[in-house]
Amino acid sequence: MSDPQPKDDQQDPQTDGGVPEEALRTDAVGARVARVEGPLKVRGRAAYAYEVPVEAPLYAHLVQSTVARGRVRTVDADEALRSDDVVSVLDHTNVPTLADGDAELAVLQSDAVAFRGQVVAVVVARTPEAAREGARLVRVGYDMQEHRAELRADDPELYAPEKVNPAFETDTTVGSVETALESAAVVLDETYTTPYEHNNPMEPHAVTACWHDDAAPGEPRLTLDASTQSVHAVATALSGLLELEPEQVHVRSPFVGGGFGSKGMPHAHDVAATLAARANPGRPVRLALTRQQMFALAGYRTATIQRVRLAAQADGTLLGIDHQVVEQTSALKEFAEQTAIATRHMYAAPDRATSHRLAALDVAVPSWMRAPGEMPGMAALEMAMDELAERTGVDPVELRVRNEPQVDPESGLPFGHRRLVQCLRVGAARFGWADRDPRPGRRREGDWLVGTGVAASTYPFYVQGGNTARVEVTQGPRYRVSIGAADIGTGATTVLGQIAADALGVPVGLVDVHLGDSSLPPASVAGGSSGTSSWGRAVVGAARALREHHGDDAPVGAKVEHSPDDNPNLETHSLHSFGAQFVELGVNVWTGEPRVRRMLGVFSVGRVVNPTTARSQLIGGMVMGLGGGLLEESVRDARFGHVVTQDLASYHVAAHADVPAIEAVWLDEHDSLANPMGARGIGEIGIVGTAAAVANAAWHATGSRVRDLPVTLDRLLDLDPDLPALRDHPASFAL
Ligand code: MOS
Repeated sequence: MSDPQPKDDQQDPQTDGGVPEEALRTDAVGARVARVEGPLKVRGRAAYAYEVPVEAPLYAHLVQSTVARGRVRTVDADEALRSDDVVSVLDHTNVPTLADGDAELAVLQSDAVAFRGQVVAVVVARTPEAAREGARLVRVGYDMQEHRAELRADDPELYAPEKVNPAFETDTTVGSVETALESAAVVLDETYTTPYEHNNPMEPHAVTACWHDDAAPGEPRLTLDASTQSVHAVATALSGLLELEPEQVHVRSPFVGGGFGSKGMPHAHDVAATLAARANPGRPVRLALTRQQMFALAGYRTATIQRVRLAAQADGTLLGIDHQVVEQTSALKEFAEQTAIATRHMYAAPDRATSHRLAALDVAVPSWMRAPGEMPGMAALEMAMDELAERTGVDPVELRVRNEPQVDPESGLPFGHRRLVQCLRVGAARFGWADRDPRPGRRREGDWLVGTGVAASTYPFYVQGGNTARVEVTQGPRYRVSIGAADIGTGATTVLGQIAADALGVPVGLVDVHLGDSSLPPASVAGGSSGTSSWGRAVVGAARALREHHGDDAPVGAKVEHSPDDNPNLETHSLHSFGAQFVELGVNVWTGEPRVRRMLGVFSVGRVVNPTTARSQLIGGMVMGLGGGLLEESVRDARFGHVVTQDLASYHVAAHADVPAIEAVWLDEHDSLANPMGARGIGEIGIVGTAAAVANAAWHATGSRVRDLPVTLDRLLDLDPDLPALRDHPASFAL
């Protein structure tokens, strides 16, 4: 791919002259620095959590509940224990009591079963094979209770949570949507659904745990090499459960093979490994979830039922927007996804409302999955906008431009660097949107009906608190940067090195970045697309403090730490990233199979610190969004309460062959309100809007308006035989 950086020709006046004097503008930030840990990874020398070298490890395997709700009556481990290689079987009768805390982490603390797939026993053995075979042989008897596992919009037990993740208002109302709907020339009232989705990072969740009974004061009692997005979150949670000081739990995440949010907080397996280690002091215990276990024990994205009502003038100008979300959580622990929040700032309209209602079901605990909230919420809103474009006859790009707000329509705050319109315009030009016939089902190429679709993207600018970075001068001189952040494959190690080099005024090759260790200065989670911003500010502050105290020739041994203050611009501005997604898609006339032919994403994300790693994040998000549009769907069998599509053969994630041509570009900008790097965040915005662009392209290809994601071939079958592209080619599957 060529070097894609279209100039942002409409400079926001806030940016002109608004770039702070001390902004990073030198060589290292913005350079295509290769991933520093890349050579280790491609040579197989990067030891992941399950592989860290240890002496004589034991292996743990989880036994999961086969009922959705009830009580464990008996755990019969006799047969499992007959194996010479099985060391012990833990269940709720023989593990120590943990302090109260997160219900998801109360592993083996009672006989209660809250969902199918919950951990009910742990087998510890001398080999992984013996542990797994032992787990198969453990016989668990249950007293079953009635359970509820079906998400329904008419569930009488729906409730309004106090907040939605992480701390947004559950409902908002401005003016009266009902009044707007009554007076509007055009009214759209449609319901869209999105499915359960499960994170499938390449590296399953894994941990190597060791308990040290004889730890000296000040030494850790527990060490965990964990595949996590936050070493500090794991250390804090486990020290709380064990009633230890946080320093007594030492967590390292040497390398992490992806997470997408599923490793953003500790889960039951971290506790199970800890209990197994505690039962075998001095012996390291390895535990990895199987791919199938990840579908119950690592969090997932709730399904949603979303009613969207739009009231508009004949020219498409919005008068009212109403976005009502029904979704689910687990009865064991609430996770309320913030599905409708993007609707609060996307488009102008005087009358507006958003709401979230939850069903608390007897199912596994949902959690973060790349762009929780924005991904399913924008799928619905942007499919609805496409339908409004159809009904008003306004071009879908133009419709969005026409409804561009001047200030945040709900908070009234000014936007900082809102460039959605530029993303749409740059994208339309680059994609060739002008040539598009707005009518569906007109274009046929061989056996394929071809259509194009567009959707907007957005993601909030999050900055997390609680970060400290340390910079010290080592022999060389070289510069060691330390912060307990996590590089989950995003390139954070590389990017923080660039930021440090820039702030120190030294070549990037002289900087050594140390992350992924809870004994390093504290850092926030690698989540919410906030890492570069949150950790980077701390690194810049530490680097500048070093130069202030020691000048540009700081001696070997010089060392400073810095903890940045909160960014006050978050109080005075509505800060978000934006983007525009364009998709061309073909639907095979014989099979109904939809295939994306090309995708373009144009993003406004502030300064891009490293184009190589940024492009990976953006196209990675887009590919995952394509999966959300066409492929990914977890099917729950409500009779039993579990997800039946719990492997990669039945849960389809997009692969290389699904993405023939994909391009991500970004506007050339520097967000002076964000941080010294001028960068916002890039980890999640690529997935937002993509599924809607795919669905909108599928409609344009076929005339079939699918409102239930993913757009699978069975949902495309009701093709209109009068579509010109079919009428002229009567040998179609649909006729
Ligand atoms: Mo991401 S879902 O914030 O790890």
